[in-house]
Amino acid sequence: MLDHLIANNRQWAERKVAVDPGFFKRLVDQQAPEYFWIGCSDSRVPANEIVGLDPGEMFVHRNVANLAPPQDANYLSVLQFAVDVLKVKHILVVGHYGCGGVAAAVDGVRRGLVDHWLHPIREVHQDHLHELEAIPAERARLDRLCELNVMRQVRNVASDVFVTDAWARGQSLRVHGWVYSIANGLVTDLGVTVSGPP
Ligand code: CO
Repeated sequence: MLDHLIANNRQWAERKVAVDPGFFKRLVDQQAPEYFWIGCSDSRVPANEIVGLDPGEMFVHRNVANLAPPQDANYLSVLQFAVDVLKVKHILVVGHYGCGGVAAAVDGVRRGLVDHWLHPIREVHQDHLHELEAIPAERARLDRLCELNVMRQVRNVASDVFVTDAWARGQSLRVHGWVYSIANGLVTDLGVTVSGPP
């Protein structure tokens, strides 16, 4: 059933070695990525591919609606490893327009566990209610909520103790907020980069 995926994999590995015979050998001993991507699980937002990075170049954490919740052990474990062990230079929080998770957070439909997961987005929505209600078109309103969600998650990451401790040690680390457009494949920097303690 999955034969085509295995075949794709063989071809991909062969292409990599054809261009660079030492490619996989180098990756065996260590990973030293400079970037840590926190993005949405959405299949249309493949982290490495969008920014043209190879295996070994970007550490990746993805979940529904690219959240960085300060009580989530999964996210925190990945963040700590990225900051303390890999010592990445840049953390990219990347949302995307048309995010189903962001839309589901505020459409009033009950889905179960995911409603709890998406709770932080309802808080962002509530905090920016006046701005959002002033946007007449629903799609534009949700896209703005996608941006506001990224900005909030950047704040979460930048205020996390793993990150603030790294800054206190003099470690170079920047937290960026981006949003990706599924419609044209382009990322936009939201201009909310944090490069040190407030
Ligand atoms: Co999404």
